[in-house]
Amino acid sequence: MKRLLHATVATAAAIGLFAAGSAGAKEMKMGLITPPPHIWTKEAQAFAEDLKAATGGRHTVVVYPSRQLGNEAEVLQQMQSGAVDLAFMTVAEISNRVPEFSALFTPFLVDDNAEAAKLLKTSKTARGLLEMLPAKVGVVGIGYGMAGVRQIVSATPIASAADLKGRKIRVTPFAATRDFNTILGTAPTPMPLPDVYDALANGQVDAIEMDLELTIKLKYWELAKTVLISNQMMFPMVGIVSGRTWRDLSAEDRAAITELMGKRLDNVLDQTEEVERTFLPMLKEKEGLQVLEVDQSFYGDSVTEWEKIWTPKAPVEAIRAEAAAL
Ligand code: BEZ
Repeated sequence: MKRLLHATVATAAAIGLFAAGSAGAKEMKMGLITPPPHIWTKEAQAFAEDLKAATGGRHTVVVYPSRQLGNEAEVLQQMQSGAVDLAFMTVAEISNRVPEFSALFTPFLVDDNAEAAKLLKTSKTARGLLEMLPAKVGVVGIGYGMAGVRQIVSATPIASAADLKGRKIRVTPFAATRDFNTILGTAPTPMPLPDVYDALANGQVDAIEMDLELTIKLKYWELAKTVLISNQMMFPMVGIVSGRTWRDLSAEDRAAITELMGKRLDNVLDQTEEVERTFLPMLKEKEGLQVLEVDQSFYGDSVTEWEKIWTPKAPVEAIRAEAAAL
């Protein structure tokens, strides 16, 4: 497997836009929506410690988990003004600004988390998308992490795709998943992570799009009759730096952030690879829970319909070719 270096190309492009500054000290803010025990938060914290050590304490990073700086749209806005410096952010939010990123949500692109991690580490298409960020969003993309590929956790039993029709399904709001759900005939219901358990418990939604790890750790399985192991979409994350912050950093500090954040993003990907091995067997042991493993055929021609919408707007064919060659 040929490994692409983190941010090599994206950073080069960004340097073109933002000439390096001087090496002044900075206390940086890093915003995340994930809670403290989540792997994104832990790796962000570890990155903060690494950067402090590498710069002899000149640069410090304060990590704000659990949406303390706002939701992702708000964090991105603050990064554009320079009020927030760094983030680990879902590609969902990024794709709302740069639709080309929706290629990463091509349904049934990968078979499992291990393949998703491999694709995100090696894909030139994914790397090329990061290069669009400085000009289109005013941030510099360092590299990819992810939450696990998406499954469906349903409070009502599911035997076929027809059982999803008309059902309210919790989604993270972004166009690629909205379109897939609309094609399936579900009622996609946007909802942030902290609201999901109660909404599934009180019947506000019938099912949720979720990854395996949180299905176990946040006990969504307790509320489910069926967990559909479909691996239907990747759910990537990006590590980003405010363009304004980047502009003021020296070339050495940029290199340190690129290397140290890149290492932590890789850790996120590597740990997600473990998910099937750890959590799928645990789920299968839960009494009274149906774990239904399906592939693309479960959804009939819905994937083709989705591709008709998105192939003209995003590099779907290019990323499919890379995934097929893994
Ligand atoms: C979600 O919205 O489902 C989610 C967001 C961040 C990490 C994991 C899951």
